[in-house]
Amino acid sequence: MNSYTRIPLTELGSGELESYDTQVILNDDFQDTHGRRFSYLRLSITDVCNFRCDYCLPDGYQCLDKTEPLSLEEIRQLAQTFAAHGTRKIRITGGEPVLRKDLPDIIAALKQTPGIETVALTTNGYKINQHIDSWKAAGLDQLNVSIDSLDPKVFQTITGHDRLQEILTGIDRAFELGFKDVKVNAVLLKSHNANELNSFLNWIKTTPVTLRFIELMETGQNPDYFAKNHLSGEQIKQQLLANGWQQKIRNKDAGPAQEFDHPDYRGSIGLIMPYSKDFCSSCNRLRITALGKLHLCLFGEQGYDLRHLMAEGKQAELETAIQGLLRDKKATHFLHDGQTGAIQHFAQIGG
Ligand code: 5AD
Ligand code: SF4
Repeated sequence: MNSYTRIPLTELGSGELESYDTQVILNDDFQDTHGRRFSYLRLSITDVCNFRCDYCLPDGYQCLDKTEPLSLEEIRQLAQTFAAHGTRKIRITGGEPVLRKDLPDIIAALKQTPGIETVALTTNGYKINQHIDSWKAAGLDQLNVSIDSLDPKVFQTITGHDRLQEILTGIDRAFELGFKDVKVNAVLLKSHNANELNSFLNWIKTTPVTLRFIELMETGQNPDYFAKNHLSGEQIKQQLLANGWQQKIRNKDAGPAQEFDHPDYRGSIGLIMPYSKDFCSSCNRLRITALGKLHLCLFGEQGYDLRHLMAEGKQAELETAIQGLLRDKKATHFLHDGQTGAIQHFAQIGG
């Protein structure tokens, strides 16, 4: 419990909101019993994906549950609830969010929610060129695109799609539209991209993206693939440090990536190493699946259904339920003990 009093958002001017975000801790912000606050929500809006990334959906998407994903209204209500309790950034994830026709409406609804400062989107880049202007117009602030290889053939082998060039063109369009802080996610894979560090580095010499190398994570469905392909980010970190890259100092609650800069490069590098020590101490995020289940951890044993509380007039119940569930958030994941949790693959929860 802290000593600050709650200031209704409506009493805060937009200038004040910035200082409010960094300095004032409201006593009913969502927080867990380990002192972590959740300024960041990852919201999956569909578990359908059209790619077949071989670490995620090697056989493509299989529809096992015909339940409709969260509606625009449900999404709006969730956003209001989280924003009222300290969430400032919402990332839209999938599956592949672009497959939802109402994506621009969802972006706009999140952006219009008082208290939400940043609306971000993670996409596999499918038809990005065709859509990105409408996302920008709807209020999208930040974009993450997955590119696991800069070699078109390897890209196709990993994802099942010959679309690398189209995605790179889409990223150029993002720059033209004024997007800042574009992030590109590459999962480190021993059998596919282990020798591509130099070509990735060449690319970001002139391209101002944050390239994030993500260590492959074990899920319920990929134990054999994981054993064959997992590569530690530690080797990359040592290579970067030996070549003049400098690790950035980040806020305690800035999330679990380690970031690196180099004066000769326009881009920067992020490393996401879930198997490293203290990875979970900077956790600032909660996740909601497309069917409205709250996941306290990417590798948690279960999701908690919130959908029955997403109705007109149930706001207080929804808030109380989330606050209660947060007491169960564990200090860390149990990946080192081989406990990968309930998620079979990340298309179910958006990574
Ligand atoms: N390990 C690490 N990252 C993964 N992603 C999907 N599955 C895994 C996994 N097993 C990543 C994708 C994308 C984001 C949505 O999640 O590559 O960048
Ligand atoms: Fe690939 Fe992401 Fe689709 Fe999984 S959800 S198959 S990682 S694009």
